[in-house]
Amino acid sequence: METVSAFHAFLIIEIMCFSIHIVSCNHISLKGNSPSNFLFGTASSSYQFEGAFLNDGKGLNNWDVFTHKPGTILDGTNGDTAVDQYHLYQEDLGLMNNIGVNSYRLSISWARILPTLLKGGQETCGSMFIHKYDMYFLPQHISCPGVGIQPFVTLTHYDIPQELEDRYGAWLSSLLQEDFRYYANICFKFFGDRVKYWSTFNEPNVVVIRGYRSGIYPPSHCSLPFGNCTSGDSEREPFIAAHNIILSHAAAVNIYRTKYQKKQGGSIGMVMNAVWYEPISNSLEDRLAAERAQSFYINWFLDPILHGRYPAEMHELLGADLPVFSKFDLEMLKNGLDFIGINHYTSFYSKDCMFSPCEPGPGASRTEGYALRTAQKDGVYIGEPVWYGVEENPNSTNEELFHDVKRVEYLRSYLQALADTMRTKAADVRGYFVWSLLDDFEWTSGYTVKFGLHHVDYGTLKRTPRLSASWYRQFIANNTLQILSAQE
Ligand SMILES: *[C@@H]1O[C@H](CO)[C@@H](O)[C@H](O)[C@H]1NC(C)=O
Ligand SMILES: *[C@@H]1O[C@H](CO)[C@@H](O)[C@H](O)[C@H]1NC(C)=O
Ligand SMILES: *[C@@H]1O[C@H](CO)[C@@H](O)[C@H](O)[C@H]1NC(C)=O
Repeated sequence: METVSAFHAFLIIEIMCFSIHIVSCNHISLKGNSPSNFLFGTASSSYQFEGAFLNDGKGLNNWDVFTHKPGTILDGTNGDTAVDQYHLYQEDLGLMNNIGVNSYRLSISWARILPTLLKGGQETCGSMFIHKYDMYFLPQHISCPGVGIQPFVTLTHYDIPQELEDRYGAWLSSLLQEDFRYYANICFKFFGDRVKYWSTFNEPNVVVIRGYRSGIYPPSHCSLPFGNCTSGDSEREPFIAAHNIILSHAAAVNIYRTKYQKKQGGSIGMVMNAVWYEPISNSLEDRLAAERAQSFYINWFLDPILHGRYPAEMHELLGADLPVFSKFDLEMLKNGLDFIGINHYTSFYSKDCMFSPCEPGPGASRTEGYALRTAQKDGVYIGEPVWYGVEENPNSTNEELFHDVKRVEYLRSYLQALADTMRTKAADVRGYFVWSLLDDFEWTSGYTVKFGLHHVDYGTLKRTPRLSASWYRQFIANNTLQILSAQE
């Protein structure tokens, strides 16, 4: 894998997880790397947590509009209220303090910052949004400058103003690059004195695959046989959208590097959804298929940012369907990134479909790299199939609701593996965030899956710590990661 070989420190760990690692690039030094400033946190995002979808002049975003259409969300719900962190943020900061985390991953709602008039609108709504996000950023800053809970802030975590969609088709238009740069600049300008970790995008690969190939996320574009949508082209649009996202990232990084970074002293990167692909057999064909699967999933975005070009396998298979970078684009891409965030939930087997045909299925098509993705080999799962959800129904016992032993076991074994790679392979890992602080709105699954270290009662919004919350507190307090990663 090209991306991996470019960084001796970059490692993807083969264990199912619902967490994020920040892995820094070895050629760029982040401030300090002593164990005490390893980031231990929990993660969230604006649409999944904030609620308050019409408060204080916020504009509608694409997820507000999408969730209000019938049939889009499994349980017919939406994020109008979500877990109401917009109002309950102080309580939630208290929960974080109880656990003892030193960082919180959150995203800013673009439609809250710029409700309308994408350019120039911020002066009128300015006081509102500054007030709102200061609620998150100020308390820790004032009480303990330099310590407390460091915000790790994503500029775009799936939700973008609906106006961008309506005006020019959002990511399908290169116009979005300039609008993203404009928005990013506002965030750096107003919050950059306190925010030292910026991520431009969360999981842009998921955004384009689900938004423009399968069509299950907004803007619901796809074509048969990938999905049944009213418009779209599953074999072309994902690459156009990705191209504009990559260049939007470059534009935001450019403005951060030239106007803010030196003065503010922060770092900027991108968070990718990362799946590990294990060849289903030891054959050369299947091993190449596993590499292609990575190229078409992760290197797709990272290679242009790190090397100024798409992966060779993508060029070969996609030909003219792959957009081209101009000289100007390449110049902009040189700004790269300071760290790579990895959201790693699960792993799959990969089976070749290029040298010999295989059954239709996810990954098997040309534009996915001819690499069939499967969770089983000879009927045996690659790992325990735990899409973590405490199944909840009116008869659930407290034991079932709060005693999440499987999650604890999962976190324990994941962090053990992380410590092993830090020790044996000198993986340069700077932080770890558990998804998530609370049960929340999980996109098309609505409220049916529960990822929280804290249970949320959606009738009362009451938060109750699960076993995993106290386990995580002990893990951090014991300094367990450092002990494990230093053992001989
Ligand atoms: C696609 O959806 C339309 C409208 O719901 C339906 O009539 C049609 O049969 C579907 N086509 C396929 C191939 O599923
Ligand atoms: C809850 O328990 C009642 C009484 O035993 C039963 O009739 C009902 O089906 C159960 N509900 C669920 C969702 O399991
Ligand atoms: C933390 O240390 C205590 C005391 O040694 C031990 O009982 C507990 O299992 C440890 N917990 C974790 C999560 O490391």
